[in-house]
Parts: sequence; structure tokens; C-alpha cells
Amino acid sequence: MRTDSFRGRDFITLLDWTKEEVEAILDVATDLKRRRAQGEDHRHLLAAQTLFMIFYNDSIRTRNSFEAGMTQLGGHAHFLDPGGRMYTPALPGDEVAYTTERVSDVARVLARMGEAIAIRCYGDPVKWVYGRANELIRNFAYWADIPVLNMEDDKYHPFQALADLLTVREKFGGFKGVKFVMSWAYSASVHKPRAVPQSAIIGASMMGCDTVLCHPPEMDLDPEVIQACEQYAAMNGSSFEITEDFNTAFEGAHVVYPKAWAPKVFFKPPVGEDSEAKAQEINQKYTNWIMTRELMETADQRAIYMHCLPADRSQEVTDEVIDKTEDDGGWRSVVFDEAENRLHVQKAVMSLVMR
Ligand code: CP
Repeated sequence: MRTDSFRGRDFITLLDWTKEEVEAILDVATDLKRRRAQGEDHRHLLAAQTLFMIFYNDSIRTRNSFEAGMTQLGGHAHFLDPGGRMYTPALPGDEVAYTTERVSDVARVLARMGEAIAIRCYGDPVKWVYGRANELIRNFAYWADIPVLNMEDDKYHPFQALADLLTVREKFGGFKGVKFVMSWAYSASVHKPRAVPQSAIIGASMMGCDTVLCHPPEMDLDPEVIQACEQYAAMNGSSFEITEDFNTAFEGAHVVYPKAWAPKVFFKPPVGEDSEAKAQEINQKYTNWIMTRELMETADQRAIYMHCLPADRSQEVTDEVIDKTEDDGGWRSVVFDEAENRLHVQKAVMSLVMR
């Protein structure tokens, strides 16, 4: 594989990349992480380059890891807030005179000034029309002749998945034989996209984990994502299973990853019914879907608890589980290693795709 073939490519979903390419990205991330720990300066890698970051939604980890990453690589990350003092990039059909600017125009303007465009967009800015945010990001990619990076849309959060994979590889040395359980967990909010669980199961099954998806019947994910996971499992000789039993799903698991996402009814038709009231009613049926110490103890003795953060404490997970970060030989939470790895995987991708 030629890693110089990564130059200029968009990073929108892991589905656009091969297993071999994802392994190469993880190798570069590990290398950059180790060399930074030894005090090496990497500012020559993207010296004087600009990453434009358009955030339609809030963030702690994504914004700060991209900004810190660009600083460490010698470039600059420019924060753009469509809710603030800028014309909001919009697709045809969503335009408002002198308030929005068509994506095709914004993309071509920014591409004249910088070396990559990163976008976060899901949920309210696209009125919970499933797939519309992914369409917006793909439209940016169509018009911009520089790499477009997906910082989370309504289908995928590929950089989170890369950070998750790097964390699993660091803890278990690889993926073969690793039981990776991605589960829905309770949250009082239904305003949560499917991007993290969908990218997590894509990543885990692509790399050869024995992947389990657990959710109540009303929370099923995109059938195209499920089909891709089944194909990866067949290619790898690993397994992909779906269960609705929260109490047994984690038995023997190495990776325990419980996280809330919106019930299907919350999305606009044809995916859902555009009903927040029904979605809230459904969520309230599953308040006992919380990760506790007792449930962690059904997993493998060396299991890791993962969460992309922010976590809804006392809803998705107890403090006792998420705060057990010491490596005493038993199960533990690795959420801060996972958050740190956002920095390293993003630096790897940026250094590979930006010119
Ligand atoms: N995990 C993640 O994407 O975090 P932020 O929403 O804080 O960016």
C-alpha cells in the first residue's frame, strides 16, 4: 500500500477506507504519540497550513483535539461558528436570503484559502432529517478540492471510531478474539445522533472484533450499516450479533461501550415519525439500562469500559464505573485514554491527507 495515496482524500466514514488503510492510520497515530512523548517536534509536518473547522453543534473533545493537533503539526485550526457571525453554509432547499450561503460557494471559497475543511453537523441544524447532515458534508467534499473531514454527522463519527480502535489495540494488542459490545444506554435526552454507535460497530467489525450490538427494539440502527458490519464479520471470520438483552449482552466482553442514541420515532419520516413525545415515552421504559459495577462484573476480568464522552452520569453509567480508571488487573474505565487518542488519530489523518 502507498501511503502517499492518502494525500488529498476526504475522511467522511470508515466505509470509504480499507482495513489495511485504517491499520496504517493507527500505526501513524501510535508513532506520532510515542515520538511526541519523547519530546519530538512535529511542527514541520503541516507548517503554515490552515484547517477550517465548521461547528454546527457543541463540542469539547473534537474542537480541542483538532485545534491542539494542528498546533502540534505547525498549522492553524480556524474555528467557524454557523450560529455566530458567519453566513450559515446551507444546501439548496435550506437557504435563507442574506443569512445562509450555499455550500458549493463556501466550499470553493475556503478551498482557495486553506488546506482542509472539517465539519460537525447533526440533529437540530438539519431538523433531524436522517442523512441530511451527511449529505451536507458530502456536498462540501464534492465542491472543495481540498480534503473534507467529518467531525461527526448524523450517520458517522469516524474520528471517534479511530480513537476507539486505537484504544482497544493499545489495551488488547489487536482485535482478533476481542468481544466488542456496543449497547444503547438510558439518557434523559433523546437529542442524540446514531453516529457514534454506527461508526463504532463499523470499526470493530472491520478490524475483526467479535462485535455485539445491543439495543431496545425501538432503537435499531441504519440497515446499511448493519449490512456492512455483517460483511466485514464474514470477511474477517469473526462474528456480528444483535441482541435486545442488556443484562446478558456483556457476558465475557472485553470492550463494554454503552451509550444513548435517539429512538427511531424521533427522526423525520420516512425513518421516524418526527415525535419527540413518543421518543421520550420510549426512553422512559428503559431507565434501568445503566452500566453498573454488577454488570461490569459479568464481562471479562480485564474488560474496559468505553464511552466517547460526554457521558450522562447516573443515567448511562454510574460514577463508580466511569471513574474506575486505575489498572489494578481487573476491569476499568479507559474513557480518558480514549479521549486523548482523538488527538493522535486526528493528527495521523491530517498529516496523511493534507498537503
Ligand atoms: N466524543 C466527542 O465527539 O466529544 P465532543 O462532542 O465533546 O466533541
